[in-house]
Amino acid sequence: MTIIKLHKITKELESECTKLSVSSQQIAMVASNADSLIHATNEPTSVPYGILSDGMMVGFILFDNEVYKDGYYWILRFMIDERFQGKGYGKLSIKEVIKMLSERVDCKQIRVSHIPHNIVANKLYKDLGFVETGELEGNGDIILTYFM
Ligand SMILES: CC(C)(COP(=O)(O)OP(=O)(O)OC[C@H]1O[C@@H](n2cnc3c(N)ncnc32)[C@H](O)[C@@H]1OP(=O)(O)O)[C@@H](O)C(=O)NCCC(=O)NCCS
Repeated sequence: MTIIKLHKITKELESECTKLSVSSQQIAMVASNADSLIHATNEPTSVPYGILSDGMMVGFILFDNEVYKDGYYWILRFMIDERFQGKGYGKLSIKEVIKMLSERVDCKQIRVSHIPHNIVANKLYKDLGFVETGELEGNGDIILTYFM
């Protein structure tokens, strides 16, 4: 059985994290991990996590560790390295996020957004119970939410 763990990105894990990348067709779908780590340094509420399987990093998630007024947390970035896609890591990671945030009494929803033609991400989130809110980000990205 595949098991994944979310591990906060420490100094030691940074280089493994920045080596991960998506395919050339997916580059517009998520910022590079190097960019996300800079974002995390500049925005202290955002927390970067490596997705580890058997001690090896297969992907990356950036959370906004700040609750918004209606009780929701945001997943800011999410990717599985090209070499490890299609093996179930993506779904397991989002399930782990749901489990982690369900321990927070103030978390009523988990929100995420993706560019409109990201069919794989849209299906992944909906399969796990996310629904489209009907709202769009300023840049047209589709917003989905998961009710705890
Ligand atoms: C979206 C993403 C994280 C999914 O990761 P993953 O590890 O491949 O996901 P899983 O292996 O758990 O697969 C989830 C489902 O998507 C399907 N899938 C995965 N890659 C696919 C592809 N390239 N084409 C079609 N379906 C695909 C799987 O078959 C699976 O379907 P199933 O549950 O019906 O069997 C990964 O594709 C990715 O990093 N994409 C680029 C960045 C991105 O889009 N991030 C999300 C921004 S919000």
